[in-house]
Amino acid sequence: MKKQIENRADVSFLVHQFYAKIRADKEIGFYFNEMITDWDAHLEKLTDFWETNLFAVRKYKGNPHAVHNDVDEHFGSKITANEFGIWLNYWAQTLDEHFEGENVETLKRRARKMSTFLHMSMFQHRQKESEV
Ligand code: HEM
Repeated sequence: MKKQIENRADVSFLVHQFYAKIRADKEIGFYFNEMITDWDAHLEKLTDFWETNLFAVRKYKGNPHAVHNDVDEHFGSKITANEFGIWLNYWAQTLDEHFEGENVETLKRRARKMSTFLHMSMFQHRQKESEV
C-alpha cells in the first residue's frame, strides 16, 4: 500500500521528487533551471504553496499569475499548452508513484485547474503588452 498525503513532510517530499523530474526534462527543464537561482528557497516556497492549498494553513503568500506572466515574457511569450501538459503529466506521475488516496486526486484536479488559469492569464497579459 502506498501512503496518503497527510502533512507538510509528505508535501515536501512530493515537491522535491516532482522538481527533480521537471529539471531533467529536455523540453521544459530550461525554464526552471534558467530562472530559479535559489532552489532551496523555491522548493520551500512550493511546499508552502501546496501545503496551503491542501491543508488550509496560511503559509504561502504570493502571486503565481504575475510570476508566470513574467516567466512567459522572459522566454518570448511562447509558452503553450504543450508545456503545461508536460508539467501536469509529471505532477500526476509523481503523485501516483508515491501516494494514493483522496488528496492525490485533489492535487491533480487543483493543478489542472490552476494550469488553465495561468495559461489564460498569459494570453491576457500578452494582449495588454501588445497594446502599449
Ligand atoms: C509551463 C508550465 C510552467 C512553467 C514553465 C513554470 C515556471 C515557473 C518558474 C520559472 C517559476 C519561478 C519564477 C521565479 O522565481 O522567478 C515558477 C514559480 C511557480 N510556479 Fe510555475 N511553471 C509552470 C507551471 C506551473 C503550474 C501548472 C503551477 C501550479 C499548478 C505552478 C506553480 C508555481 C508557483 C506557485 C510558483 C511560485 C510563485 C511565487 O514566486 O510566489 N507553475 N514557475
